[in-house]
Parts: sequence; C-alpha cells; structure tokens
Amino acid sequence: MSTDQQSNGSSMFRTKTVEQSIRDTEEPEHALKKSLSAWDLTVFGVGVIIGTGIFVLTGKVAKENAGPATALAFVAAGIVCALAALCYAEFASTVPVAGSAYTFAYASIGELPAWIIGWDLVLEFALGTAVVAVGWSGYVRSLMDNVDWHLPAVIQGPDTPDGVFDLLAFLLVLVLTAILVVGMKLSARITALVVAIKVTVVMIVIIAGLFFVVGDNYSPFIPPAVTPEAGSGWDAPLVQLMFGYEPTNFGVMGIFTAASVVFFAFIGFDVVATAAEETKLPQRDMPRGILGSLFICTVLYVAVALVVTGMQHYTELSVSAPLADAFKSVGRPFFAGVISFGAAVGLTTVCLILLLGQTRVFFAMSRDGLLPRFFSVTHPRFRTPYRPTILLGVIIAIVAGFTSIDELATLVNIGTLFAFVVVAVGVMVLRRTRPDLPRAFRTPWVPVLPILSIAASVWLMLNLPGETWFRFAVWMAAGIVVYFLYGRRHSRLGKLGKDAIF
Ligand code: ALA
Repeated sequence: MSTDQQSNGSSMFRTKTVEQSIRDTEEPEHALKKSLSAWDLTVFGVGVIIGTGIFVLTGKVAKENAGPATALAFVAAGIVCALAALCYAEFASTVPVAGSAYTFAYASIGELPAWIIGWDLVLEFALGTAVVAVGWSGYVRSLMDNVDWHLPAVIQGPDTPDGVFDLLAFLLVLVLTAILVVGMKLSARITALVVAIKVTVVMIVIIAGLFFVVGDNYSPFIPPAVTPEAGSGWDAPLVQLMFGYEPTNFGVMGIFTAASVVFFAFIGFDVVATAAEETKLPQRDMPRGILGSLFICTVLYVAVALVVTGMQHYTELSVSAPLADAFKSVGRPFFAGVISFGAAVGLTTVCLILLLGQTRVFFAMSRDGLLPRFFSVTHPRFRTPYRPTILLGVIIAIVAGFTSIDELATLVNIGTLFAFVVVAVGVMVLRRTRPDLPRAFRTPWVPVLPILSIAASVWLMLNLPGETWFRFAVWMAAGIVVYFLYGRRHSRLGKLGKDAIF
C-alpha cells in the first residue's frame, strides 16, 4: 500500500491524502482546465454573493425581524462568514482540488464526514440555485409588467395566485446548464459583465438613496420585542423552542433571527473554493478571491440596509422587491426600473455560479467513487464535467419550476452553516495530522479562530426555525442511507486500500 493511502482503523474514517487528491486531478480523463486567476475568482465571488439575499430578503427581515437594525444583522452574519472564510482560505490553498468543503473533509477528517458534507453541499447549491432562479423570475415578470406584457397566469410560478409552474425559472436553469457544459471560460466572461452591472446597480441604490434618507425612519433603531401571532410553533427559532422562551420578533434576539436569514446573502464565497482546481495559482489566488469578495459584499450590504431602512419606514417596506419599491415610495420610478433590471441581470450570475459549485461537488464525489464514476468523465473537447452538469441542471430546473422559495432559503442556510462547522474542524485536524504540508495561507490563531467560527455558525443555526432543522435532519438521514448502500462499497479509496495495489 502506498504511504499516502490510509485506510487504517475504521473504514468510515479513512482519509484521502492531500497528495492523492491532487494526483487525481492530474488524470487526463478526469482533469479540469486550469484557467482562472484571482481576479476571475473575485468576480465569481461577488457574482454569486450579491443576489436574492440583498435584493429580496432585506425587506422581509427588516419588516418582520429587525427593523433598521437589519444593518446589524448583516454585520453579524458577515462576521460569521469572515471567520469561516479564514478557515476556508487555508483549506483551499492547501488542498486545491474541486469540491470545496467536501474535499477538505476527505483530506482531514475521513470518508463518512466527507460524504456527509458533500451531500450537504448538494442540498445547499441545488436548492440555492432553485431559490435564486425563482427570485430572478419574479424580477423579470415585474419588468415585463412595466411594459404591459404578461405571461399566462398558469406559468407565472407557484408563488403567484393562479400559477402552477414557473416557466421562466425553469428556462433560466436550462440555459445556464448549457453555458456550463460549453466551458468555464465562456461563463467567466459572461459573469464579469453581469457582475459589473449588478455592482453598479447596488451603488446606485446606495448613492441615490442617500438623498432620500429621513432620520425619523431610524427611530427606534432596534424595535422593541413583540410576540408574533400564533403559528405552528415550529416556525420559531430553535433556540427559543429549546429554552422554552415565548417566541418573539424584533428586540436584540430579532437581530440574530434576521442574521440567520440574511446569511443567505453571503452564501457564495465558499463556492469560490470549489473552483480551486481550475485556478492557475490556487495557493496565492484562492485566499485573495475568497476574502476579497466577502469584504466587498459586506460593506455594500450594510450600506444598502442602512439606506433602504432610512428611505422608507421598516413597517412599510415591500417584501418582494424592497430596493426598487423604496424608490417608488419616494416618487422615483425611473430608479426603480433600473434597479429591477440590474437585479434581474445580477441574479443570473448567482444562479450560474451556484449551479457550477453544485456540479463540481458532485463531480468530485463521483471521481472518488462515492457516486457513480460515470459522472466524473469530463467532456473530450470542453473538458467540463458535462454529465453531472446536465443531470443536475435538469433536476434543478424542474424543482425551480414547481417550488416556492420561502422555506428553501432557510434550508440552504442551515446546510451551509453546517459546512462551515466541518471546515473549521478540518483546519484543526489537518494542522495536527499533516503539520508538514505547505500552506500558502494560514488561518491565524488556530485553534482559537476555528473554535470561534464553529461557535458562531452553531449560534446562527440555532436561530433558524425548528422546522428547518427537521427538514435538514431528513435530508441528511437520506444521505447516510445512500452512503451505506452505494458510496461505502464503491469508494475508490476503499478499493485502493483493500487491493493494496500501490
Ligand atoms: N448570496 C446569494 C444570494 O443572495 C446566494 O442570492
């Protein structure tokens, strides 16, 4: 057996070494093209980070959970992400292989935890793609309404009164799937253009909006806690259910509830790590791409939240298109139109990159034999993992067509926060088990910082509704079943260990 294969002890905790992970990427049939720079990664990051979170969820949480203090919720969620990003950056620069947290977990903790995280990431990216596609469709319909062009009610989407199927969301996912099949370079170029439009629109909101801010709207900045109207109970944050509090909205706790929802707005910097294998100089470019894009977005979000809650009293904000509607409320429909257009364009890249992350994780799991190897053969000409891209693209398109977005976003959040926890654990484990590995970027203050990252992520998870926890548990249980029925037996690492062929 090779010295860099370890299948000792319990097979569920066999780890794939970093050397093996990198060697796998060099097999010609299974190799991705290395074409991305730090700039491409930052553009990818900003391209996926700014999306439904800021364009849609800001209004909802300001109105229901935090009022003007939504800006603080963005700060809280941003801190959680920054801690996680510092862990992600070390891993991404040490293990520059497709698959993000999945690959990292495989190299540090073991096969079963890696499987769990991979399965979890599939949930995050697939549902995230669907959520954003549906949000995009809403903005496009609103633009079409401006020119008095209406789709038949039945294909307006399940979120509308008579809608059944969301044709626009469905078509968007299929078109983006085709772009990904043709190749990274094409999608990176399209992304760069669209990101420029999106950032411009966000800047317009901030700068133009400043002129309409009314100081009175900030009072009270943290609205006093109120008891919500009775629901199922399970829609209250788990932390309140656990400790038997009477569920409340607003107040200081409301800021954390809001943070656990607007966290969705930050999802995406972790996706940058999934493109490590396609990066020219991952050791240098990965940390730059991840931290850079996260920083830019945090600053923009806090500014947008402050401006929007200053333009309109939080009780009057719209929940479907709050940024555009704030401008309508101050008599500036032209700006509202521009913002809606930018949002619709911007959400396209978010969808594209989530879909990309999704296919790369699936690809990596398949290359390791935990999912059928059929899916990890790259296209002979485009060098893209076209098989999982097409399969998952079609499934996600159907989900986007038939599903409403509300509860999906919190499910995406819990999955992502869980991935953060695994990555932070992984950093600590790999420092112990492989202190010798070159690390272009080192997480500062290990183990204090990873431990803080775990605590912060768990805290946000506890602020998510009880029903979200239930759905997440069901998905993960299904994953464990698939692992024991398929992945464990077909694992390439397991076979290598058993056959002792090296
Ligand atoms: N962060 C991305 C969004 O807000 C997923 O849409």
